[in-house]
Formats: sequence, structure tokens, C-alpha cells
Amino acid sequence: MKILVTGGAGFIGSAVVRAAIARGHSIVNLDALTYAACLANVASVDNAPGYVFEKADIRDRAALDRILATHDPDAVMHLAAESHVDRSIDGPSDFIETNVTGTFTLLESVRAWWIAKGKPEAFRFHHISTDEVFGSLGATGKFTEDTPYDPRSPYSASKAASDHLVRAWHETYGLPVVLTNCSNNYGPFHFPEKLIPVVILNALAGKAIPVYGKGENVRDWLYVEDHADALLTVLEKGPVGRSYNIGGENEARNIDIVRLICALLDEMRPQGAPHDRLITFVTDRPGHDLRYAIDPTRIRTELGWRPSVTLQEGLRRTVRWYLDNEAWWRPLQDRQGVGQRLGVKA
Ligand SMILES: NC(=O)c1ccc[n+]([C@@H]2O[C@H](COP(=O)([O-])OP(=O)(O)OC[C@H]3O[C@@H](n4cnc5c(N)ncnc54)[C@H](O)[C@@H]3O)[C@@H](O)[C@H]2O)c1
Repeated sequence: MKILVTGGAGFIGSAVVRAAIARGHSIVNLDALTYAACLANVASVDNAPGYVFEKADIRDRAALDRILATHDPDAVMHLAAESHVDRSIDGPSDFIETNVTGTFTLLESVRAWWIAKGKPEAFRFHHISTDEVFGSLGATGKFTEDTPYDPRSPYSASKAASDHLVRAWHETYGLPVVLTNCSNNYGPFHFPEKLIPVVILNALAGKAIPVYGKGENVRDWLYVEDHADALLTVLEKGPVGRSYNIGGENEARNIDIVRLICALLDEMRPQGAPHDRLITFVTDRPGHDLRYAIDPTRIRTELGWRPSVTLQEGLRRTVRWYLDNEAWWRPLQDRQGVGQRLGVKA
């Protein structure tokens, strides 16, 4: 299959690109190369037959029209987005422009091209979204595909809006779509402003490890390569119009994640031990959702997918990867806003 991946120079998009090439698919990687992108993430497939990179913005209709006409993909996997909740609190407009207007522009470009091609039934538009659209859970319960939307941050509201647009383009225009809503990802190539890389890199530098509030927020962590595998499974097997929740069945409080990483570093880099002496509780994020948890019954029973990596094993691989790849993360720490506390103003 020839797949046009948007956001393929980002964290999850690049994992999808690498996994898709390994499965024998061809890839057109469309990315605007914002602050969050890194072409090194896809360097391993740069020379693979069937891999092409196109620098373009999903808000640029003419560029999208040209790229679709040039490459004639069998599917679009749409991951390009502004993705950092803290940045969405300080500057929501980029999130509305890319995640909402950009998704609308992409849908319109794809719709026009799909009609011009004679509406091929086998074509798929796969929208990649987040479990954050469902809001915040209390101590119990899980998100199913039927949980009502209740986004509470500018980021999650923009992703909810884009989900609604994709469903509307299916219902109204017949565009063959599939959707997925996934829990928090972690793993290699995770941009150094997100929780897990911040913990690893601050601990390595002997700097304070910031934990928001009391660290009691619970997330359902999924190793990024398992997410990429789930996404390709949904694309290859999911029926048109269906949505799937994807989770790791690995619920943990932030403070427990931080302590697990510190213990792994104590073992793998003992000279800084004990690393948990660096844990510092800081002012909480405004509107910080307490708990997310995914009920993965649908993807497990309908498509036979389940995660392959436990949280302990995934974190071990991730810590090892950051220890071995300083040349990747060091330059990214100089990018705008990285290492600063963002998203504190309410
Ligand atoms: N990270 C998570 O834990 C998580 C969980 C569930 C869903 N998601 C979703 O998965 C997708 C990818 O997330 P990620 O963590 O890899 O994000 P990321 O920030 O690492 O990467 C986003 C990529 O999109 C590109 N991009 C941004 N704006 C663009 C534009 N206007 N035009 C073209 N390209 C643009 C960036 O250059 C970057 O390469 C997002 O849609 C996100 O909402 C993320």
C-alpha cells in the first residue's frame, strides 16, 4: 500500500513511517518541520525504496493538491498536529490553526482528489487522535469508543474538533475514514519537552525533576512502537467508519513513572544515584485531567491487537535508548521553549 503519512517527522508519525516501511508499504512523509519535528527520526528509512519526503503544511491547500495528484496514495494517515498540552495553554491559536483548520484543509483536498479518482472504495483516511478528547476520569471507569466527548484543554478541544470533522466528512460526503484515539505514548525519539524524556534528561544532568502537583495524575502508557503497530492494523483491517480506542493496559500515576525511571537510571547510570533525590513537586497544570484509562476491548476482539511491551520493559528500552542517543536529544534541547516551564498561566 502507498500511504501518505502527515506528521511523519514527529514522534509517533516517524514510528509509523519506520514500521510501515518494515511491513513493505511505500510512504510519502508530509511534514511542515515545526519545532517538534526531527528528520533524524526517519533517517533509517531515508534510502528505502518507496520512501519520499515532502515538506508541506497541512494548511496549504495548493501544496496538498499537488502532493496528492503526484503520489496517488492508497491511504492517508493523518498525524500532523500541535501536540503539547502545556504549549496549548500558552498559545492556543497554533492548535486551532493546525489541528482544526489544517485537518479541514486536508479533508477538503483529499475529498476533491478522491472524487476526481472516481471515489475508490478501498481508499482510507485514518485520523489519529487522543484519549484526551474524552475528558477526565475519577478513580474508576475506562473510556470506550462510546464515551461522550468532554475535552478540557485547548489541545484536546482542537483534537475533538478534528475528530468531529473527520466523522462529518464520512457521513456527509462518504469519505472512507477510520479513527483511533490513543493513550499517552512513550519510547525512542520522544521530543525532550514531554514528561518521560524530561525525567530522564534532567536526572542525567543532575537537575531537578519537575512533577506537576502531587504526581497523582494517572495515564495509560503505551510504547510507541506498539501504537504504530496498532495504527497499521486498524488501517489494514478496520472497517470504514469504525473508531478504535488504543491503550497499553499500563495505568500508572506520574509519580510512579518518575520513580520507576529513577530506579532504572540508578541501575544503568549508578554514578548519579539515587536519582529520586532530584524529584521536585511544582505548581500543577491548570485544568490537569486526573485520570485517563482506555478500554481496549474493541480493538482486541475485532482486530486481534494487543500491546506487546509491558511498562517496565518499555521504560527500560526507553531509558537505554536515551543513554545511547545523546547526539539525537542534545541539539533539540536548544529549540524554543524546551526546558522551560510552560502552561502555568490560567
Ligand atoms: N504523543 C502522544 O502521547 C499521543 C497520544 C495519542 C494521540 N496522539 C496524536 O498523535 C499525533 C502525533 O503525535 P506526536 O506526539 O507524534 O506529535 P509531535 O508533536 O511529536 O509531531 C507532530 C508532527 O507534525 C508536524 N506538524 C505540525 N504542524 C504541522 C502542519 N501544520 N503541517 C504539517 N505538519 C505539521 C510537526 O512538524 C511534527 O513532525 C498527533 O495528532 C497527536 O494528537 C499523540
